[in-house]
Amino acid sequence: MPAEPSVLILNGPNLNMLGVREPDVYGSETLADIEAACLERASDLGLTVEFKQSNLEGELVTWIQAARVEHDGIIINPAAYTHTSVALLDALVLTQLPVIEVHLSNVHRREAFRHHSYVSQAAKGVICGLGSHGYLLALDAMARIIEDDV
Ligand code: DQA
Repeated sequence: MPAEPSVLILNGPNLNMLGVREPDVYGSETLADIEAACLERASDLGLTVEFKQSNLEGELVTWIQAARVEHDGIIINPAAYTHTSVALLDALVLTQLPVIEVHLSNVHRREAFRHHSYVSQAAKGVICGLGSHGYLLALDAMARIIEDDV
């Protein structure tokens, strides 16, 4: 039997503080809660998921590079690096994998510096403003993208 498709879910800086970090903006769930929900949804979809978080840009770049041969798609909440990181954009592009960008908050309703995303240039789609549900919607979309090879 062929192995299940594998999706890397990456989380950028300060997302390890979810639950205590500005709950009015980011909700009261912890990152561990979101990981548990993602694992459950992935299992329903027949996907394997690896869920990771780092506060370090270079570490995220290294994980993205490795994903090129280890995973079939990447879901990423780059957090603040969304708005600053050409390095993350370049790494995502080189993988040639389908990428979905997720944000808990609606970045377009917030400060102007959050309106631009370097990462979006590598993303097939972007989901923002729907809280942790956005991660589950991204998994649904990724399952289709991988299955249909679109
Ligand atoms: C975020 C939005 C970013 O602007 C911010 O820097 C974050 C979280 C979100 O999920 O809403 O850290 O990516």
